[in-house]
Amino acid sequence: MTYRFKHGATADNLNLLLSTLERLHHIKDLHSLLDSILQESRSFTQADAGSIYLRNGLTLRFSYVQNDTLFRNDLLCNKYIYSNQEIDIDEKSLAGWVAKTGTPLVIDDVYEIPPGAPYTFNRSFDEISTYRTKSILVVPLKSSLEEVVGVIQLINALDGEGKPIPFTEEMTLFIAQFAFHAAVAIERALTLRDQVLRIVKLSELRDPEETAAHVYRVSSCATEIYLSWAERHSVPRAESDKMKDMLRIASMLHDAGKVGIPDSILRKKGKLTPEEFEVIKQHPVFGAKLFENANSEWERLAWEIMLNHHEHWDGNGYPGKEGGVGKKGNEIPLSARIVAVADVYDALINKRVYKDAWEEEKVFHYLRQEAGKHLDPELVAIFFDIHPVIRAIQDKWQAEGTA
Ligand SMILES: [Fe+2]
Ligand SMILES: [Fe+2]
Repeated sequence: MTYRFKHGATADNLNLLLSTLERLHHIKDLHSLLDSILQESRSFTQADAGSIYLRNGLTLRFSYVQNDTLFRNDLLCNKYIYSNQEIDIDEKSLAGWVAKTGTPLVIDDVYEIPPGAPYTFNRSFDEISTYRTKSILVVPLKSSLEEVVGVIQLINALDGEGKPIPFTEEMTLFIAQFAFHAAVAIERALTLRDQVLRIVKLSELRDPEETAAHVYRVSSCATEIYLSWAERHSVPRAESDKMKDMLRIASMLHDAGKVGIPDSILRKKGKLTPEEFEVIKQHPVFGAKLFENANSEWERLAWEIMLNHHEHWDGNGYPGKEGGVGKKGNEIPLSARIVAVADVYDALINKRVYKDAWEEEKVFHYLRQEAGKHLDPELVAIFFDIHPVIRAIQDKWQAEGTA
């Protein structure tokens, strides 16, 4: 954390708020945005931990968690991001009460809540993790229509020596103001995600394999593989954050070009003839055509992924360069090499119309065998390094998933 909220320094705090909001408005992907919103809220208040919940009908869906004390030494802490948890919008939890009433809540010690209070602190997380939650600040995220779309919960503001202290009234006002603007950015990210999902839905109507759950899994796996690659290659944080943001959205569209393939081939049960397979091999080109007039960076990335996700590291993939010769090694954009690993893994580990789910060991064997042939060997090695995170992603979106 590089800066913090200053007590009584209104002008400085206002500048801090404005520059932070400016950054938020450049983030397109919902996950990246939630990550940043939480990180920034914690920076303002020096909160040790926090989480964001998004409203999902009558419940709150646990969407993001950060905890410096618990996750400090855990390189694979990203797996916690993919846990599934929902809480009811009622007084049985502090976040539930805030979502229900739309009122911020600030408590100095959650273990000292008086018996007659209209809300309760749910100790179950503390009990399983041995973490001691003390001070807490919970703020609603409200849409432009004044509806609660989610909740930010900040835990244990820390003093200079790392001891929990209460959140101040000034911090509460500041975070409430921040949350107001953050909610607008969340609404915008949800709109973009809906638009992308509409394109995914179009291909899903044609090809039953391209489900929302599949594209969420491929997009999350691809992002995690990229982050690990970026760390290995010492990519500056600002650059990797930006790429992560774009890759999450763009990779969801990898097979959108299948809308151009006739049903008689796409839905054929049984083996395709060589001629039919030649038609299937056109889908990367069709996809690229959809986005050939890309006028934003993420759309340009989507174009690149759609066109190249079936190229092989050894040059035996398609559609290849001008003249049909397959692209090889680093000629294939990194984004597409990453999506290829995530897509192949996801297709094998899950059941599909034409095949059962493969045993994990068999999938691992196949990936190792294809490293250096179909797939980039470095990316396959990274895949194995971060496998607990990949497995958490599989668990989160086993069925038809939501964001
Ligand atoms: Fe494909
Ligand atoms: Fe796919």
